[in-house]
Parts: sequence; structure tokens; C-alpha cells
Amino acid sequence: MRTALNVKLYRSDLSIMEDGAADTVQAAAEAGGGVLRCFPSFVGRKFCLPGKNLELVDADYFPEGPNGWAIDERWNGSAILADTGNGIHGEGLCHFHHPDGFLIPMNAAVHGAPDFMVGPLYRTLGGTGFYNKEFDNLYPLGHHMHPWKPEAYNFNPWRNKRYKNDCHTSLGLMEYFDEEMMADSVRDFIAGKDNHLRSHARNLLIRMGTGFFTPTRILHGPAAVNTEEPQRDRDDFRFYQSHVLCPDGEVFLGQELLYRHLPEGLEGEDRVQRLVSDIDMRRNKDPYIVEKHLLLPVVDEEASQGGFHDEWRVYGKPNGDEVFSLRQFELAPGAETVLTGPAALCIIHFSHGQGTIANHQVEVKSGIRLGEPLNDEFVIPYAAAKQGGVKLVNTSATEPLVGTRCWGPEAWGHRMPKAPFETWPD
Ligand SMILES: [Fe+2]
Repeated sequence: MRTALNVKLYRSDLSIMEDGAADTVQAAAEAGGGVLRCFPSFVGRKFCLPGKNLELVDADYFPEGPNGWAIDERWNGSAILADTGNGIHGEGLCHFHHPDGFLIPMNAAVHGAPDFMVGPLYRTLGGTGFYNKEFDNLYPLGHHMHPWKPEAYNFNPWRNKRYKNDCHTSLGLMEYFDEEMMADSVRDFIAGKDNHLRSHARNLLIRMGTGFFTPTRILHGPAAVNTEEPQRDRDDFRFYQSHVLCPDGEVFLGQELLYRHLPEGLEGEDRVQRLVSDIDMRRNKDPYIVEKHLLLPVVDEEASQGGFHDEWRVYGKPNGDEVFSLRQFELAPGAETVLTGPAALCIIHFSHGQGTIANHQVEVKSGIRLGEPLNDEFVIPYAAAKQGGVKLVNTSATEPLVGTRCWGPEAWGHRMPKAPFETWPD
């Protein structure tokens, strides 16, 4: 006898069933024609303000009222929880719809049926190894880095309908910024003084329809635009910029965001020196840091025919490792196609239009309410991807059907285009 967990999530009463996920997820995929439909997972951060490009109704960006934490992310196809402290059940985690009306948590499905969901790579990854998210902030994020987690961005015009070519992402450091200046900047942060680190960075002006790859240990402060961000399935980060913009001017981030992922017991000047040495100064000061990591779209000419257009937006292998990738497609009004891809778990997120995918309806809507089930996010498990393509139909007579597909480690191999950072002479 399986027992469901009854969860009140905002306006919805959800029935979540973890027991027997190995069987229920396979039944759900079979009913969906190989494709799993996802319940949306919105995430709130205490140190961010929403840019309101996630298609929620205005009031729902602030579940705790105007002074509480606010929604600035939506996670897609995640088998891990977000670590926010907001107290929302399953925040960040993806859930699949079962035809009997209950939801299956993706972590239970992945660990219960690893061969079906992830395939042989599960044994080395211990999970899916990746997920995709949208983040969307009112102001740029502070200059920060990730000790172990590379990430990449897709700038999707369908999720930035009001964008005016006016936002920058800060990257790396200028040539004059030496280790002593970096150490002073860390000391200022520790003392609670504004270190203005972002003003010493190079900048990328965001152009919609492009991508960007951010390797580990590179300082970056993502622009205030809706960004689709494939990444590793871990949440390590460390802020080096002390203050960020807020409606009243600037606000101090607090030292705990600087001290993340440090060895126990490190203090004083030893801590300062460790924080400096964790920044890869040579690569941060590379004058071509923007050109090397900017990802111009690469059209898949073979796949793009019969009203279907498909292009690479996130590609490249840092240090030779394929960690994730993302392609954006557009299907013309009334057209249909068969989505093909590698034998690997695939996360699909639609950003415009309506139609069908395998046995599911697709609809991208605005004015979403928190807790409302949607028809715009899907996962193709490894076993179904291995069997071949998935039928996609645009049922609109006037609008394109637009979406992204995202894959994890070692999905494409030699079929993936090379990023500039792989071919640039050192
Ligand atoms: Fe980041």
C-alpha cells in the first residue's frame, strides 16, 4: 500500500508519492509517450529582487509580502533541492505528473530507477549530474565565483520581451588589478566596507539569442535579464563583491557569503590569502575573457528543415569535459517534427506557443499563479531518448512554438561544436 504525502503549496493541494517511484515513473512516462510532464518549481532568494520575467502574476513574486523573500528563479528538471531556508516543500525539486493525479519527486525517480532515468552514467554521477534553471533579477548579481561548479547562460528573447540592449554581465578583472588589490578588496569586504569590485571587471553587453560559458574560479556578476542556466547539480558559490544594488541604493551582502567553502578554522591574514588564491588571477585578467567564453549561436543545418529551426546556444567542454549543453528550437505555425537527440536524459522547457509533445499538450502561458500546474516543462528519460525521437506539433496557426532542450554530461561527444575557449591559442 502506497501512502501519499498531502502538501499545501500556495493555492494547490498536492498529492506527492515517493513510494514505488521506480514503477510509477515508468508508468507515467509510458502514458506520456516516453515523455514526463513536470510540475513547475519556483525558487526564492533572500538576497535578490525579482525581475518579473518568469510570467507569474505580479503579486505572486512576493509570497511573503513586499518585505519578504521573493521569487527570482524557476528550476527545470532538477533532482536536487534548493538550499534557501524558505521552508517551501520541495523547493527547487522537479515533480512528475502521474496519470492517476499524484506527483512523483524526481529525486525518488532518479535514485529508484537510475537505469531508466539516467542510464549507465548514473554510476559515476550518483544522480543526473545537471539541471537547468531560469534566474531573473531586478539588479545585476554581485561579482562572485564557483569553486567547483561551471555554469552557462542562454539569453532567450521570448523570456525577455521588454529587453532594450542595456544590461551587462561583469566578467573577470582588468589588467591593473593585481593580487594586492584583490587582497585589499577582500579585507574591505571583511570590514564591511564597499569594495566596488564590479567596477574593476570587464563587461559583456547582453545580446538576446547568444550564450555564454562561465568556468569555475572566474568572477562574474550576471546581468539583470532572464537567463536560462544549465549547470552542475551542486550549489557552491562565493561572493567577492561586498555590496549590491537595492531600491534604496546599495546593501551589504554580509561576510558569510564571502566565507563559503573555506576550510575550518582559517582566520585573519591566512583567510585573506586563501580567498585571494582561490581566484584564478591569470584567467580572470585575460584580456580576451569575453571573446573566449561568448557563445554565438550555431545552427544545426541538418536538423533545421520543414519549418523547424534548431541551434546550439550552450556548448563547449571546459578542460575537455562535456558537462552540459543547451539548444533552442523554433517550430513554425502548423508544422510538426520529430525531436531527435542523443541517448541521454533531456530537459525541455517551452518559452512560447502551444502544441503537443508525444502524448502531452503544450501551452506557454502568462499570468501564472504559484502552485498552479503548467504544460511547458518536460523530461525525456534516458530509456525513452535511447529509443528514438519524440513527435512535436505546433497547433497554432499564427505563432511559432519555441523551447530549449538541455542535456547533461557526456551526451553529445564529438557531435558538439567547439567553444572559442577550446580553440583559442593560449
Ligand atoms: Fe554564478
